[in-house]
Amino acid sequence: MTDWDVERVRKDFPALHQRVHGQPLVYLDNAATSQKPQVVIDALVSYYTQDNANVHRGVHALSERATAAYEGARERIQRHLNAASPREIVFVRQATEAINLVMSSFGRRFVAAGDEVVISAIEHHANIVPWQMLCDEKGASLKVVPVDDRGDLNMDAYVRLLGPRTRLVAITQVSNALGTVTPIKEIIERAHAAGIPVLVDGAQAVPHQRVDVRDLDCDFYVFSGHKAYGPTGIGVLYGKEAWLERMPPYQGGGDMIKAVTFEKTVYNDLPYKFEAGTPHIAGAIGLATALDYIADLGLDRIEAWEHALLIYGTELLTAVPGLQLIGTAVRKAAVLSFVLDGVHAHDLGTILDQQGVAIRAGHHCAMPVMQRFGVPATARASLAFYNTPAELETLARAVQNAREILG
Ligand SMILES: Cc1ncc(COP(=O)(O)O)c(C=O)c1O
Repeated sequence: MTDWDVERVRKDFPALHQRVHGQPLVYLDNAATSQKPQVVIDALVSYYTQDNANVHRGVHALSERATAAYEGARERIQRHLNAASPREIVFVRQATEAINLVMSSFGRRFVAAGDEVVISAIEHHANIVPWQMLCDEKGASLKVVPVDDRGDLNMDAYVRLLGPRTRLVAITQVSNALGTVTPIKEIIERAHAAGIPVLVDGAQAVPHQRVDVRDLDCDFYVFSGHKAYGPTGIGVLYGKEAWLERMPPYQGGGDMIKAVTFEKTVYNDLPYKFEAGTPHIAGAIGLATALDYIADLGLDRIEAWEHALLIYGTELLTAVPGLQLIGTAVRKAAVLSFVLDGVHAHDLGTILDQQGVAIRAGHHCAMPVMQRFGVPATARASLAFYNTPAELETLARAVQNAREILG
């Protein structure tokens, strides 16, 4: 397919080399979470075995080493995203917390009664529910960009939704449920032309493609470490310094302050103003290691391999009688969401599991997408650069078997 040496890359991922129910594991649930390369596991072990200490406050050697590693991780992630400054990189637990931070801090300061927040019909619940909560609290309203039958955003409708009361656009770069790659640059340009800031949900983009926040010119960008080959419990909020400076803290506590008296607290500088309490130090180091790892493999090569897998997987699955792909956007990431005549997605998932094939079955935390396409659930195979054409053949055979058993 391409010059990608997938067998060599697979050696970096210990969890891939196991049997499940007596069959070799075929891990196709990467949009839920990815497996971890040995370098990330080693970085965590090394941190905990040698450097473990609290950051920013100790005067001893271990604390200095932990602080240097933690702040070094921030700078590595800043470079990966091409952010202008490490002050624009805020560590959070995951994409969900990053969105809640913006909702809570930006939203409470800049959104008022009668204002509007624009999202799209293909958002993950993490990029719907926080905005609903904000709108309820403020008396603002949520506007939703519709999608067509392929799962592409209706850009004319989008432009029409941008109005004088729109305070924020919050849209995904890649849909987890359908694989749609949205025209995010155009979305941002159109919003900026109307003076509206944009938050990009990059949870499904960072693991699979090059992301340059300055080229995108987004105001906020969020993602989770665990989907990008890093640890769970760590994620990033990128925010333009000009916005973060104007936003109040999200949580109060240690580390986010410069001085505290009972009369008044002076908040810390960016990004610490948004990082109350002891952070996930090992997680930040692990995430930086994961992003360095995929950058070293080459994000353009990763994208090319995953695209070739998507084309092959689409061909194999559409040949299965009674199978319908949900999500056929013009630009798609390597996500194959589908339904099978007469077979419930959960039953299909269980039968596939018996054959060693791990997929996700359900609404993928995107219930409005399921409603839009008139299905209760889909089966979803989501690919990563360590997947192989042979694994897709196993998937297609397993689906065919399931159809014979259940259909
Ligand atoms: C597009 C998208 N946004 C946000 C999230 C939320 O990610 P997390 O649960 O890691 O915060 C997900 C997770 O599936 C996702 O796919």
